[in-house]
Amino acid sequence: MSRILTGIQSTGTPHLGNILGAIAPSIEMANNPDNTSFLFIADMHSLTQIKDGKELRMNTYKTAAAWLAFGLNIEKTIFYRQSDVPQVAELSWYLNCFFPYQRLTLAHGFKDKSERLEDVNCGLFTYPLLMAADILLYDAELVPVGKDQLQHLEMARDIATRFNHKMGKTLVPPKAVITEETMLIPGTDGVKMSKSKNNFLDIFLPEKQLRKQVMKIQTDSTPVASPKNTENCNLFKLYKVVASEKQVSEMAKKYSEGNYGYGEAKQALFELLIHKYQPQRALFDHYLANLDEIDKALLIGAEKARKIANSCLQRVREKIGY
Ligand code: ADP
Ligand code: TRP
Repeated sequence: MSRILTGIQSTGTPHLGNILGAIAPSIEMANNPDNTSFLFIADMHSLTQIKDGKELRMNTYKTAAAWLAFGLNIEKTIFYRQSDVPQVAELSWYLNCFFPYQRLTLAHGFKDKSERLEDVNCGLFTYPLLMAADILLYDAELVPVGKDQLQHLEMARDIATRFNHKMGKTLVPPKAVITEETMLIPGTDGVKMSKSKNNFLDIFLPEKQLRKQVMKIQTDSTPVASPKNTENCNLFKLYKVVASEKQVSEMAKKYSEGNYGYGEAKQALFELLIHKYQPQRALFDHYLANLDEIDKALLIGAEKARKIANSCLQRVREKIGY
């Protein structure tokens, strides 16, 4: 039995890459009855970059709607919004006081962001300590993250060890579970699909807009009549990650026979997306039209999370001497 926890930054609607690379596999792991899992929307971390309250709230709703639409079970997973458990800010402060300033200056994440962003606030700097608090507050043992978060995880482990060393055994040093992007979904331009590159497919969009995104997929200039190569074809790769084996071999046959244009292949991909994700699209729309249902789901999670958080905080406060 492992306690697994992960956080998701809410920076817009999750795209096809996020869904196939992160949401679907995480839900599968969370549904494993051998694990207790925590999944939260890191909206306090988002505040380091987003200062518009409405945008902050809507990002949380869109992210939550996508997870719920893909079958996240709120009975099996403690699913909550970070800002609904303010205990995390208290623990974060304690951790601040046990972590050397110098060590924090070595964080790659901060270096990268402080070079790119205009608003270089203190929250960006202490981001890893809030993240450590997210994890330690729930005694999480395993934390699935992308490679870019590995250093943050090492810091969380380091903080827990330092605290325990000074104050006696209190916190559980977590381990990272690196989610290799075994399923690297390409974007419409052939490079990794990403929110920041505007090369994504948002399967929750209305049909017309989704069709537009699909039609944007870049292809080579092989004439319609000629046979086409599936190997380096970005459009084919995208079709392959969503279609069934039978559909993929049918599409491969059409490619090799010729007289099949990329326009037709794009139309086939578009229709497949609409058809395959019809239930999730409908659920996503339902949740966004009924935000109170999302609030309700997140509050159920927050209540469970707060109970666990309070017991950890109690331990920490006692050790500190309050
Ligand atoms: P983005 O690059 O769109 O900002 P994030 O860095 O927020 O995405 O990633 C969120 C999760 O989605 C991570 O677990 C990451 O591994 C996964 N992910 C993001 N883009 C892809 C992709 N193109 N293919 C597969 N998984 C992806
Ligand atoms: N920093 C993580 C990211 O950008 C999100 C995050 C916040 C997180 N708190 C966490 C991930 C705790 C795992 C555990 O992806």
